Amino acid sequence: MRLFFFLALLFVFVQSYSKTDKYRLTLRDNPATSIVIGWNQVSGVSPTVYYGKEDHGTSWKNYKEKAQPDRTVVFGEMENKFVRLSGLIPNTSYFFVIKDSEGISKRYWFKTAPMESNSRMSFVAGGDSRNNPTPRRNANLLVSKLRPNVVLFGGDMTSSGTPEQWKKWLDDWQLTISEDGRMYPVIASRGNHERTNDMIYNLFDVPSEKVYYGVTCGDELVRVYVLNTEISIAGEQTAWLKKDLTRNKNTGWKIVQYHKPMRPHVSSKREGNVQYMEWANLFYDEKVKLVVECDAHTVKSTWPVKPSTKSKSEEGFERDDRRGTVYVGEGCWGAPLRSSDDAKIWTRDHGMFNQFKWIFIDKEQIEVRTIKVDNAEEVSSVSDSDPFEIPENLDVWNPENGSVITIRH
Ligand SMILES: [Fe+2]
Repeated sequence: MRLFFFLALLFVFVQSYSKTDKYRLTLRDNPATSIVIGWNQVSGVSPTVYYGKEDHGTSWKNYKEKAQPDRTVVFGEMENKFVRLSGLIPNTSYFFVIKDSEGISKRYWFKTAPMESNSRMSFVAGGDSRNNPTPRRNANLLVSKLRPNVVLFGGDMTSSGTPEQWKKWLDDWQLTISEDGRMYPVIASRGNHERTNDMIYNLFDVPSEKVYYGVTCGDELVRVYVLNTEISIAGEQTAWLKKDLTRNKNTGWKIVQYHKPMRPHVSSKREGNVQYMEWANLFYDEKVKLVVECDAHTVKSTWPVKPSTKSKSEEGFERDDRRGTVYVGEGCWGAPLRSSDDAKIWTRDHGMFNQFKWIFIDKEQIEVRTIKVDNAEEVSSVSDSDPFEIPENLDVWNPENGSVITIRH
């Protein structure tokens, strides 16, 4: 009798738990029509994603579509599988399960971004999640509550990128999944704590082995550029950037994310002179209006600035409210905080706390808020019918110059 119960229990266990974990969504292309579903295949064979516009729970047979991994890469002691879906319908919920020879995953879902020209999108942007699990998990939990279209992650996920650290990071990332199973795609950059480009390429299936690329979101609403401050900036990378910016002149907004700041607001950090030389004028000329930087583990936002060495300038920039670029940052997703002891005359506000940016983008304007993440547990969720309403208890930083940075054309 006991053996029977044991076998029955074992059967139930094997039936209901798939041998997959460390789920993540990433992007290689427009989030309105594509997504990458990634996971770790612990054991079992023939994994298949069953998906569709209707929610069938874990009844995999009822899903209309299926797809097998486009890429498998063993990295960080994990078997990373990636299913790249394209041709999706914009502004639509897609439900999915992963079935393999050993079982079925929980049912997850995602929502493609809108494609209408008058639509609005919400992004979470930050980085530097190494070392401290509590703020890292709080920030992750807050993603699950803000339900953004996209998460921009600016590098330094872990301290040294050991398999153990990556596994922990990906386990913690599961906290970004909402209670109802909704997941959010990441646009990932490389930081100096990722010792190789491969770490980002193999764990996030980004569309460039050198980890610099552009992703257009929606109907040319915004093109997000990911740049790589950990490889040569001059030469090939900047040549590509120049060409891509010119080719995408019609894009409504251009925003940029990379790891090391041009002008860090922590005095012990080295100035980003090479990227200043290569990128500052390019951003200004090509109307890049927002840049998200990381690495220094402090909080800053600048006024719109243009490259200048005139008398009103400091460290190569002066304020230009009409045409300038706003730089925000710098990390704080769980890395040890540093004092912002290196503010400039064109610094708008600065501070020192665990945070990320919450960004709303529509045709007319960009709004940037800095969100303190420590009270994530107490924050209520936004609803998918109005993801731009500030949820109850959300700790929006309200410094001297106001809580909302508004950027217009
Ligand atoms: Fe860094």
